[in-house]
Amino acid sequence: MPKPNQTLGEFIIENQAHFPGSSGELSRLINSLRLAAKVVNHEVNKAGLVDIIGAYGETNVQGEDQQKLDVYANNKFIQTLTNREIVCGIASEENDDFIQIKGHKGDNQNKYVVLMDPLDGSSNIDVNVSVGTIFSIYKRVTPMGTPVQKEDFLQPGNKQVAAGYIIYGTSTMLVYTTGFGVNGFTLNPALGSWYLSHPDMKFPEDGRIYSINEGNYIHFPQGVKDYIKYCQEEEGDRPYTSRYIGSMVSDIHRNMIKGGIFMYPKSSKNSSGKLRLLYECNPMAFLTEQAGGKASDGFQRIMDILPTELHQRVPFFCGSKKMVEKAEEFMARAE
Ligand code: AHG
Ligand code: MN
Ligand code: MN
Ligand code: MN
Repeated sequence: MPKPNQTLGEFIIENQAHFPGSSGELSRLINSLRLAAKVVNHEVNKAGLVDIIGAYGETNVQGEDQQKLDVYANNKFIQTLTNREIVCGIASEENDDFIQIKGHKGDNQNKYVVLMDPLDGSSNIDVNVSVGTIFSIYKRVTPMGTPVQKEDFLQPGNKQVAAGYIIYGTSTMLVYTTGFGVNGFTLNPALGSWYLSHPDMKFPEDGRIYSINEGNYIHFPQGVKDYIKYCQEEEGDRPYTSRYIGSMVSDIHRNMIKGGIFMYPKSSKNSSGKLRLLYECNPMAFLTEQAGGKASDGFQRIMDILPTELHQRVPFFCGSKKMVEKAEEFMARAE
């Protein structure tokens, strides 16, 4: 049972009891992620003081202009995981292809791969709005000790062993799950320690916040347009409140605490939406389900989608169970 004010270090050790006979590899991996998160947090906090704001000058495989902090965070997480030889492979939103980690002696025996969005909401850095990091952990499916292959990364979300996010906000939090509920830890920057501040986080079953980039309304499918109109109608507890930060991590974090739905649907411009199944949707879906919420592409469970490409995109509806179900109802009706 999580204890209030427990440190993340203590919690990780206790959490290991869920995995009898485990080697402690997953615990060491989460330890590495919390370390890299502290380093990135330190850098994000200096934005505005040192030259880390603005464009890096290159375009990533997603066709997006990379920001300096996208590149910094990507390098920091990859370096930490590589130097500590704690995983056998990494895939990132910022890298064209996955990375094989062979180990210093070429004998890497680790069984986990990490997939990540090193900096989510990077367009918000320049304006001092919260950004995040998302991670997703799977057991490899190819034989241990051999170089990882694409199929180790192209697993459905329901095979995730752990997932989490870091939110660099008014305070910095690390929120994660290993399949036994969701717990949130707040960084005490003076001590450099994470403390359990949000034990057993749960999405309210229903909510009153809808989060979507409504500027794209004209391009949305009819079901989404109808659902937005439903949110705006005056009836019962409606109209709902609209809140959209443009950092998915922050939008979903708020909705998890207050109750709400986050949507990034497909549009007439973008046939699969924008968000990436492997780095963004699957980990947020795992956390959401573990917190009692629901995550779908409008028609089916996100975590049951069989990925075919590393950078695959997917429409995303995620949040309080009743709200997602209602949105799905509108989607089905408009088909
Ligand atoms: P990233 O910064 O990792 O590329 O992700 C940005 C994502 C997500 O955080 C956010 O919800 C969404 O893009 C915002 O997109 P729009 O500006 O199209 O609304
Ligand atoms: Mn990006
Ligand atoms: Mn992102
Ligand atoms: Mn990103």
